[in-house]
Amino acid sequence: MIRSFLFSPGDDEKKIGKASGIGADSVILDLEDSVAESRKPIARDLVSKFLLSEKKSSVEYYVRINPMDSPFCKDDVAKIVPSKPAGIMLPKANGAQDVEVLVNYLAILEAEHGITSNSIKILPVATETAAAVFTLGEYAGITSRLSGLTWGAEDLGAAVGASVNLQSDKDWTKPYQMVRSLCLFGAHAAEVQAIDTVMADFRDLDQLKKVCDEARQDGFTGKMAIHPAQVAVINEAFSPSPQELQHAKAVLALFEENPDAGTLQLDGKMIDKPHIVQAGRIVALSEQIAAKKLINK
Ligand code: COA
Ligand code: MG
Repeated sequence: MIRSFLFSPGDDEKKIGKASGIGADSVILDLEDSVAESRKPIARDLVSKFLLSEKKSSVEYYVRINPMDSPFCKDDVAKIVPSKPAGIMLPKANGAQDVEVLVNYLAILEAEHGITSNSIKILPVATETAAAVFTLGEYAGITSRLSGLTWGAEDLGAAVGASVNLQSDKDWTKPYQMVRSLCLFGAHAAEVQAIDTVMADFRDLDQLKKVCDEARQDGFTGKMAIHPAQVAVINEAFSPSPQELQHAKAVLALFEENPDAGTLQLDGKMIDKPHIVQAGRIVALSEQIAAKKLINK
């Protein structure tokens, strides 16, 4: 489970170097929107050299390539795959078809470069075109490479000519609340991580905490960041609190003591099957985070 994904522009050597040491579970080295067209080849070279020489074992590196229908996509994939990123982020994905094309590219390049087959994951940004919004239910079962689904508001807004995407209280306007929800359910239908989009206003960490808490309550399990200051807030919000862990363990212990019970009560509240599932998730996530901390030391 990846809680935090920190973007770093692929043509900015200093930021790329810095991003690895911030504590983000994943760093996304960007070749797309944060890199000017004239600098795409420079970014590809930099990202590929970085991945071959300096990557940290505790960080999962993704590379955001350019969209499938751009003139850069094929060269991005060809240059990046030999440097073995953990995954490829596919922006402006238009559903299963685009992912299947990328799967084929990856399969050929993995074979050519002696990389374990099916090892490079795919993380689509699944809501960046108007057509994409109608494809969010398509991702289930298409490939074991799929590691999550995430969504974006900026490009979708530009695609439909929207002048704003945030309300005065900084919550999303209604069209974006809807695509956020579709991404959430599409990801869970595909049994992969639902990952919340970036918050551009990177100085407002109070608001970030609020939106992270809401996202986690809704079923998102991670969030993307654009600035190092956002990472700690995201990691904390998407980690179980000590109280949550204690409660989850109590739920599991109670059902273990009563193996034939379907419904029980804990502290005056009914608990049943969905509570067991949720408690299991929380304990598993805590164990994963604890294991990661050991590796980091
Ligand atoms: N990754 C790594 N380091 C970053 C960073 C990032 N995403 N964003 C900022 N930093 C570094 C800065 O280089 C600076 O380092 P320094 O103290 O060693 O000089 C430090 O963090 C503080 O940065 P700050 O001055 O607050 O911001 P900035 O003006 O340098 O950068 C942005 C602001 C928005 C341009 C920058 O955060 C950024 O490039 N974000 C990622 C953009 C991106 O990838 N977008 C694509 C996805 S939407
Ligand atoms: Mg974009």
